[in-house]
Amino acid sequence: MNRAVIFDLDGVITDTAEFHFQAWLQLAREVDAPFDRQMNEDLKGIDRMTSLARILAHSPHRFDAQQRDGLAARKNTHYQHLIEGITPQDVFPGVPALLSTLQTSGYRLGVASVSKNAAVVLERLALTSQFDFIADANRIQNPKPDPEIFLTVAKALGVEPRHCVGVEDAAAGVEAIRAAGMPAIGVGPRSALPLANHWVDRTGDIRINDIERLLV
Ligand code: BG6
Ligand code: MG
Repeated sequence: MNRAVIFDLDGVITDTAEFHFQAWLQLAREVDAPFDRQMNEDLKGIDRMTSLARILAHSPHRFDAQQRDGLAARKNTHYQHLIEGITPQDVFPGVPALLSTLQTSGYRLGVASVSKNAAVVLERLALTSQFDFIADANRIQNPKPDPEIFLTVAKALGVEPRHCVGVEDAAAGVEAIRAAGMPAIGVGPRSALPLANHWVDRTGDIRINDIERLLV
C-alpha cells in the first residue's frame, strides 16, 4: 500500500511561524491596530489576505482594495527580510532524521503550505529534494481550513487520503487535514489543537510507530 506523510511548513519544519508573527506585528503597528502573540494564534495557517483582513478589523483606519494589496505586499517585504538569513541550520531538530526514516520506510513525502514563500524557504533550508511533491499555494482556490491543499498533495503523490498522515501546528491546518479524511498529528498542546489524533511538542518527537498506528 502507498502511504504518505504531508507536512505543513511554517512552525512544523522550521520556525518561520515566528517570522510571520514579527512581520504582522510590524504591519499592525503601521496601521495602529492592536496585535499580540495571542491574536497571532488565530492567524496561524491562515493565508495572507485573510490574515490582513483580521488585523485591519481592529484598525481605526479604513483601507480600500488597492491599499490592502499594498499593505499585504509590505507585510511580505518585512517577512522576506526576516527569512533572508535562514540556512539548513534552521530546520527544527530531528526533522532531517525523521524525513530520512520515513523515506527509507517507503513513505511518500509532501508539503502542504499556503505560503507563497514556501518554495524559497525550502530551498534555503536545502530540503526541496527531500519531498516528492510541494503544493503550489498559487494554485489553491480555497485556503485552510478547507481540505483542498491536503487533497491536492495526496492526489499528486498518488496516495489515498486515508493512507496519508498530516502534520500541522495550526488549528486551521488540523481542521483541513481532518476534513480531507486524514489522521492528523498536532505539533503543540492538545488544548490548542483539539481535532488532532496525536500530539507532539516538537516535530522531531514524531516516531514512525505513531504514524503507523494512525494508519491502521
Ligand atoms: C502559513 C502561515 O503557512 O502561510 C501564515 O502559517 C501565513 O502565518 C500564510 O500568513 C501565508 O504566507 P505568505 O508567505 O504567503 O504570506
Ligand atoms: Mg504552520
